[in-house]
Order: sequence, then C-alpha cells, then structure tokens
Amino acid sequence: MAAASERDEPRLSVGQVAKRADVAVSTLHFYETKGLIRSWRNAGNQRRYKKDVLRRIAVIKAGQKMGNSLVEIKETLAKLPESRTPTKEDWARMSRFWQAQLDEKIAYMMRVREMVDGCIGCGCLSMKSCPMYNPEDIVATEANGAVWLDHPEQAKAAKNCYDSKN
Ligand code: FES
Repeated sequence: MAAASERDEPRLSVGQVAKRADVAVSTLHFYETKGLIRSWRNAGNQRRYKKDVLRRIAVIKAGQKMGNSLVEIKETLAKLPESRTPTKEDWARMSRFWQAQLDEKIAYMMRVREMVDGCIGCGCLSMKSCPMYNPEDIVATEANGAVWLDHPEQAKAAKNCYDSKN
C-alpha cells in the first residue's frame, strides 16, 4: 500500500483528465490559466494532475451550468480553506449559494422581460420614461451594473409610454 504522500502524487495525465472529465484538453489548459485547477510537472516535464481535480472540474462545470462565470466560480472556490477541492458538505453549501444567486438572476431577467414588453414597437428611448435607457445616469450614482432595472416605477413608465403611442 502506498504511503499517503505517494497516494497524493499527481498522476493523471492531461489526456486522462480530459477523457474522464469529458472536457477538451484546451478547456483544461484554459481552467489552469484562470487558476481554477492546478497541475504539476513530472520528471519528464509532463503535466500531471491529482485525482481530485476530477471533482473540482465537476464543480466548475456545475457552477457554469448554474449561470456562473469562471471568475465567480473561482471566487467561490477560493473561499474554501487552502483552496481545497470541495467536499460533499462544501458542495452542498456552494450549490445552495449558487441556487439563491440563480433565483435572483431569474427574477432580474423577468423584470427585464417586462420592461422590454413596453419598448417593443415604441422606439422613443426616452431618458424620462424608457426603462431600457439609463435615466439621469442612475447607474453611475446608485451602484454598479444595471441596478436601475430594480426600479419598478420604470417598468410602469415604459408601459405607459408604449400605451400612449399605440
Ligand atoms: S423605447 Fe423604451 S419605452 Fe419607449
């Protein structure tokens, strides 16, 4: 039986990881350049991975499917002690966190969809009444991103604008 240090030796080649994780070799290289996974060089200067990289890739892929960017996934993974590969308990916490974020994104997209309804067939792009425009530069003064879409009064204004022109 191998000693613990030998068991933890990075042994998987890039081809083996790609096959077992069902991702392209180029994807592994990309994840590595983004700091999401890590490899070591063996004596022959070949790239080798620890076996737990497979679990890490599974978490990355699941995170992407839940609508997270690689930057967001990296930030979440970095919160784990010593950036360890997520355990079952870690994954339970991460998936709950990402699910809550997904709920927020869905709610946001529902609001956007409602606002776009008001713009269809309108074309005014009015600074005062169009919610798809940035009235009075609210974005710059209130927060980062399209937070003004959180203003339900703008959705009503769009509908009124649309209705008045149709
Ligand atoms: S174009 Fe958006 S409300 Fe007129």
